[in-house]
Amino acid sequence: MANLTTEYAGLTLKNPIIAGASNMVTDPDIVKKLEDAGVAALVYKSLFEEQIQLENLQIEEQMNRYSNFDAEMSRLFPETADAGTKEHLYNLEKLRKNSTVPVIASVNAVNEQTWGEYAIQLEETGVDALEVNFYAVPEDPEKGEEDIIREQLDVLREIKSKVSIPVTVKLSPFYTNILKVVRSMDQSGADGFVLFNRLFQPDIDINSEKLAFPYNLTHPEENRLALRFMGLLFDQIDAGLCANGGIFSGSDVIKMILAGADAVQVVSTLYKNKPAHVSTMLGDIERWMDEKNYSNLDDFRGKLSKKNVKEPFAYQRGQYIDILLNSDKIKQLFPM
Ligand SMILES: Cc1cc2nc3c(=O)[nH]c(=O)nc-3n(C[C@H](O)[C@H](O)[C@H](O)COP(=O)(O)O)c2cc1C
Repeated sequence: MANLTTEYAGLTLKNPIIAGASNMVTDPDIVKKLEDAGVAALVYKSLFEEQIQLENLQIEEQMNRYSNFDAEMSRLFPETADAGTKEHLYNLEKLRKNSTVPVIASVNAVNEQTWGEYAIQLEETGVDALEVNFYAVPEDPEKGEEDIIREQLDVLREIKSKVSIPVTVKLSPFYTNILKVVRSMDQSGADGFVLFNRLFQPDIDINSEKLAFPYNLTHPEENRLALRFMGLLFDQIDAGLCANGGIFSGSDVIKMILAGADAVQVVSTLYKNKPAHVSTMLGDIERWMDEKNYSNLDDFRGKLSKKNVKEPFAYQRGQYIDILLNSDKIKQLFPM
């Protein structure tokens, strides 16, 4: 029987499938289903400073409304500045206590000081690791890439100096040179990388002529982006590699490990195929490994990475001109 154990960012996982950050793990029934299906670890939804600020604003608005009726009313809302954070920490601590697998907290702050403060508070819940979610949409045209990366490196070093659990970094692919960013963060002490986050993009409803914010589930074709960078980064950094984005099946997980991943995170496939799908994915990986006579993941991890493939440019070539423009194959596949 194949052994699926893997090491990722200082954690020993019973298999490579982690339930990625989402609202799903806030529901104990879903957590139970994920654990029963064999998931190796859970990432709790991010503690978003922006959301906390918004909630505090709403509470303050309510307080101001009531304060005209009764000044005592304000006592019903003590320490509003911390209210949202406390609820998040309380729920996370409960999950950590009840869960049978490692729990990873996630943080996304706005102010430099808050990142460090949140990191300490999240570690105090007893979680096994902390994922730093550098989710940000550029807003200021005056701010250059160097400034953004310097700030993120400062945040990472600050968090590393404040907590002792493993600290992983979840990045979007939107950097001029993601390889340099990963290397700099690796040298600054990141224990793992989750590549890549998926930014929520707004849409427009042309009937109502209003902005819409649809749920942003992925599709399997999207996992090639993570695949490329697993292949490029395998054996190039000290930190662990976790592939994320469009991983739906056992075959997708196998591909990521062949490219060089230590683990994968999945979210959309759990929404679309339900938590029990983890068990199907694990079964498919085991079957494939048995067929190929692989007894553990290290037997084939990185086998098709840039380091190990004979065609050294395979991962670098961004445009397959032949396929895109000239090949007869595409004409056969899509006759006009
Ligand atoms: C409903 C929902 C909530 C999410 N919440 C978070 C979050 O709190 N923090 C985070 O880093 N990513 C969050 N994500 C992004 C996922 O963790 C993941 O990076 C993304 O969905 C790509 O993986 P997938 O293709 O397996 O869905 C969320 C995604 C969805 C669909």
